[in-house]
Amino acid sequence: MQVIIRPTAEEASWLVARMIGKCLKAKPDLVLGLATGQTMERLYSMMVKLHLSDGLDFSLCRTFNLDEYVGLPADSPYSYRHYMKTHLFDHVNLDPRNTHLPDGNAPDLSAECVRYEETIKRSGGIDLQLLGLGKVGHIGFNEPLSALYSRTREKALTPATIAENSRMFKDPADMPRRAITMGVGTILESREMIMLVNGTAKADILAKAVEGPITSMITASAIQLHPDCVVVTDEEAASKLQAREYYHWVFENEPEWAEYRGK
Ligand code: GLP
Repeated sequence: MQVIIRPTAEEASWLVARMIGKCLKAKPDLVLGLATGQTMERLYSMMVKLHLSDGLDFSLCRTFNLDEYVGLPADSPYSYRHYMKTHLFDHVNLDPRNTHLPDGNAPDLSAECVRYEETIKRSGGIDLQLLGLGKVGHIGFNEPLSALYSRTREKALTPATIAENSRMFKDPADMPRRAITMGVGTILESREMIMLVNGTAKADILAKAVEGPITSMITASAIQLHPDCVVVTDEEAASKLQAREYYHWVFENEPEWAEYRGK
């Protein structure tokens, strides 16, 4: 794993947008794993900017989102499908047929989870998975005690997650109690991963996920098992990391990061 610390959330997000842009240029039919949450909003606006001003081409790109709520009305403004349309899909030249999210209204949710895994497999597997970090330490909706080998499945949300995410709902009582999420095992099978984390509120959980023991109580700690994972964070979220100086040194000195310095 590598940790890249940028001074601000703006700069951290810009670095991730450029990393994704580079991958997409190198492989136009990239299979891109997507995440939701407030952190990603700035990143997606930058990806839109790269499309509009630099012509970044999404026409062959295939996307798979990490998760979706169960049981929201099809036209709900709170669904992750709606979030993705609003922040990314409607503003770039992605073919809607190439954008995939689990269907939280499928009549048979277990069959839907199997179908989702098969669709990922048929597309050749995820090349690059984007991850956020929940305050409870989850990736996707892999709540505490999610097995590190878990696959896409329906998951009951913890009270902490419900409290955190229901703030987005006009009536917090409308927040679903269940979601479909890629499993930790599914996520770890992606060829490359980038986790983007910003803000002081994430400092404690980021330190646990990155430098603490690997545990299913904090499913984000499983990223330590992945052979090609980069965590990109602002100074605020990085403030509790013990090896901060080392991470800075690597960014400033390793040739791999030269193109991202000073911008
Ligand atoms: C939700 C998503 C997670 C995401 C998290 C972080 O819970 N299911 O995939 O990592 O939000 O959200 P935020 O960026 O708003 O803190």
